[in-house]
Amino acid sequence: MRIMTVCLGNICRSPAAEAVLRRAFTEAGLDDVEVTSAGTADYHVGERPHELTLAVGTELGYEFPTVGAQVRAEDLDTQDLLLVMDESNLADVQALAPDSRRAAKVRLLGEFASDAATAGVQEVPDPWGKPRPAFEAMYRQIEDAAAGVVAAVRERRVAEGRDGR
Ligand code: 4NP
Repeated sequence: MRIMTVCLGNICRSPAAEAVLRRAFTEAGLDDVEVTSAGTADYHVGERPHELTLAVGTELGYEFPTVGAQVRAEDLDTQDLLLVMDESNLADVQALAPDSRRAAKVRLLGEFASDAATAGVQEVPDPWGKPRPAFEAMYRQIEDAAAGVVAAVRERRVAEGRDGR
């Protein structure tokens, strides 16, 4: 299975979610899940993640091997699931989808949060330009939702929908 996390700039939320999900799937023994990330914008293509994404994430023991990339329409073919951070990412990535089947691969990460059923699906707020506590809160929110993603994959509640296989 292939999962891509997507935000606007691909330097704060989606690289954090990529790192958290990679470790969560490894710890769960689900080694056949590949996780990557991208941004809807091209502002930070080729760049390392934001310094506070790296600083807080490294303290939490995460690894950041990738650099910024922009999401492309082809990703809707090659990925099984695209996990976006907010409604604007959802609209932007779904706009790349040629049909409803591929649009359905795009889901808010907040759907998998532990309180989604009671509190409703929340966006992951953009911490860019905010101080360190915003990045710490971002990691807490992403870690909670990542546990839900791993459970959904393990219980086969998310389908493998890759094309061309
Ligand atoms: P991200 O945060 O979408 O979580 O990576 C942002 C990073 C950069 C910009 C916007 C959001 N920017 O406008 O450069």
